[in-house]
Amino acid sequence: MIDVHTHILPRVDDGLKDESEVFKVLEKYKEHGIDTVIFTPHINHPTIKTDISKIKSTYENLEPKFKELGIKTFLGSEFYLTPKIDNFIPIRDYFLLVELPKETFPLYLLDKIFELQLEGYEIILAHVERYKWLIDNIPLIERLKAMDVYFQMNLESLESDRFFIKNGLVEFIGTDYHGDGEPDFSLFEKYRDIVEKGKRILGL
Ligand SMILES: [Fe+2]
Repeated sequence: MIDVHTHILPRVDDGLKDESEVFKVLEKYKEHGIDTVIFTPHINHPTIKTDISKIKSTYENLEPKFKELGIKTFLGSEFYLTPKIDNFIPIRDYFLLVELPKETFPLYLLDKIFELQLEGYEIILAHVERYKWLIDNIPLIERLKAMDVYFQMNLESLESDRFFIKNGLVEFIGTDYHGDGEPDFSLFEKYRDIVEKGKRILGL
């Protein structure tokens, strides 16, 4: 199984602060049968400032130790989409986890998604359940699905926000884990079909 959305690469964003923590967390993943973890530090976020070269070098330095643990890891990013598209780190070279404003519909959304798709990227919308302008907006949801946009939901919302799950609209599940508390890892097993679907889409 796979977690596609995490902030556990240490000291690169608002996630884990301590390098030793990441190894403990990855052990927990293994205990729960999750053998693949994608690191998705924030990039281009309006309030969380991050440095793409620091993210890359942190990952490169730690990757050999992750391998020793027997867990597959990949580096990506959670890219906050703005009208000006800057640098980002796609997952496996072409899957882009995209974050959007929660309260107001970003007028540039469809244009920017199309632009990125023309460049060859596959778009995954991060935690779709959070966007107030998307929930219940069936025409927009249909439009995004017609554009082959993938939807990711956060683990903690699976049992409470049923709309996207009930309608079969979710391809990816992630913890969005920032190191506080502990995710209910048992939910990965409960939603295994979706978790495995996401893994297949990523070609893993
Ligand atoms: Fe996140």
